[in-house]
Amino acid sequence: MNTQKTVKDYIRTIVDFPHEGILFRDVTTLFADPRGFRMAVDQMLHPYAGQRIDKVVGLEARGFILGGAVAHQLGCGFVPVRKKGKLPGAVISEEYTLEYGEAVVELHDDAITAGETVLLVDDLLATGGTAEAGIKLIERLGGQIIGCAFVIDLPDLGGRERIEALGMDVHALCAFEGL
Ligand code: PRP
Ligand code: MG
Repeated sequence: MNTQKTVKDYIRTIVDFPHEGILFRDVTTLFADPRGFRMAVDQMLHPYAGQRIDKVVGLEARGFILGGAVAHQLGCGFVPVRKKGKLPGAVISEEYTLEYGEAVVELHDDAITAGETVLLVDDLLATGGTAEAGIKLIERLGGQIIGCAFVIDLPDLGGRERIEALGMDVHALCAFEGL
């Protein structure tokens, strides 16, 4: 019998965070485990390992942790998409919808050169609003997105369909049904 833990096994679920009725999928327990973290990073980049990737774009905040490690492993550059007001240089911005209200993410306008190939990385795909905003920013600079890699997909929230409808390749390591 194979008793090896999978990536999903390292993810902790916190009940009623940040609101009552929400099951929060906590990746800090995955990141804290040396075997779990390496497995997650290796599995995220696996489909893209043979392809030319110029930049990994990580979405703030948990996408930075994964994206930095993925970029290091692929031997390419890392570029952050940050929440509004954090990047010091000239930026382009995209607004997106959160559960309550709107948010804005930004990308340095010289972080990607037209024609560069990009892998988008984040921890979680829920409604897909955050990822879509990141995709729009990358495409506005002429980046060619090779794939969008996540640790977790929450299929009930429809993010995968939303991102695939944009013509993207979506790669998720595991899924949690239900909210
Ligand atoms: C969470 C998660 C994803 C996003 C997914 O980030 O890390 O980035 O939500 O949701 P969506 O698919 O519905 O857009 P959050 O906005 O909580 O911020 P953080 O990563 O900075 O903690
Ligand atoms: Mg996030």
